[in-house]
Amino acid sequence: MKPATVLCGIGAWLPPRVVTNEALSTYLDTSDEWIRTRTGIRERHIVDRGMSTGDLAVEAARRALKSAGGEAADLVILATSTPDHPCPATAPDVAHRLGLVDVPAWDLAAVCSGFLYGLSAAAGLIANGAAGRVLLIGADAFSTLLAPNDRNTRAVFGDGAGAVVLRAGDPDEPGALGPVSLGSDGSLRELITIPDGGSRHPAGADRYFTMQGKSVFRHAVERMTESASEVRRMAGWAPDEVDCFVAHQANQRILQAVSERLRIPADRCAIHLDRAGNTAAASIPLALADASASGQLQPGHRTLLAAFGGGATWGAATLVWPDVTPHFV
Ligand code: UT7
Repeated sequence: MKPATVLCGIGAWLPPRVVTNEALSTYLDTSDEWIRTRTGIRERHIVDRGMSTGDLAVEAARRALKSAGGEAADLVILATSTPDHPCPATAPDVAHRLGLVDVPAWDLAAVCSGFLYGLSAAAGLIANGAAGRVLLIGADAFSTLLAPNDRNTRAVFGDGAGAVVLRAGDPDEPGALGPVSLGSDGSLRELITIPDGGSRHPAGADRYFTMQGKSVFRHAVERMTESASEVRRMAGWAPDEVDCFVAHQANQRILQAVSERLRIPADRCAIHLDRAGNTAAASIPLALADASASGQLQPGHRTLLAAFGGGATWGAATLVWPDVTPHFV
């Protein structure tokens, strides 16, 4: 029988600089009231000049490896859409800085769905024997790519990183990953984009991140609801058997709309965005670490994950929460 994928360690890290809604309102045409009521966000953490996604990833990964007992990983996947450089990938440098010698390491770009895409890739590699212990990191520093005066994105995004260690194990063990469902629709590519700087328009000047928020909101609710329902059914769980719903932390109104459609009570929904904003690929592992540290997420809990992001990409997965100690900030 092929081995199952088991989560055995989790770590997370937020850069120390906190930007509150009030602080944002001093230089942007926005207000604490607008941001809180439209998104649920109160503050976000932002990298200082010179700090990169790779730096965030190393901090979270160190904590995840420690949480997993300190044993080295034999493969590294870094889910990010804000790499340190367009080339090479950031993951080999992160692996090197962690002292992981000669391990395969690569970046995975699926924007806010990156962590779930990474879980699926790791599970496949573990199942076919290509890896025995995978370090999966979700890290993004979108603040470095936002237009200084764009209140639509500046109000929402924050920087951060979360990481998990996944090992080969048994499907009945706590920590075992259940069904995963992934999807994409490239016809929606312009809803979330950095128009220039890639191979299509290498010399273009439009290098800031843009998002058509209203349209993204609608698609996010629809796709996260569909994929989360699908994996919940595949896992054989009734709606009221989901103990904790940990979705991509983009907007509290999205979380509310999706959990209502899934018939999951609000108190089973993990909320971390109030303190970190939308941290893209980092948001699910950050929310998992936070929910586990606060006791909302307990060993044995049936945990449902879902995400939607640029591409468009989306995905969902189930997991029975293991007895791990999260290492967080
Ligand atoms: O992580 C990947 C997936 N991303 C998401 O899922 C994000 C999904 N989208 C959203 O979360 C929301 O669309 C936003 C938070 C980005 C925007 O909220 P919204 O409720 O959709 O606002 P809107 O864009 O429809 O704008 C409503 C009004 C507009 O004013 P008018 O035209 O009604 O006068 C905007 O100009 O609010 C204005 N507005 C703001 N006002 C103060 C937009 N952003 C702001 C702001 N502060 N930061």
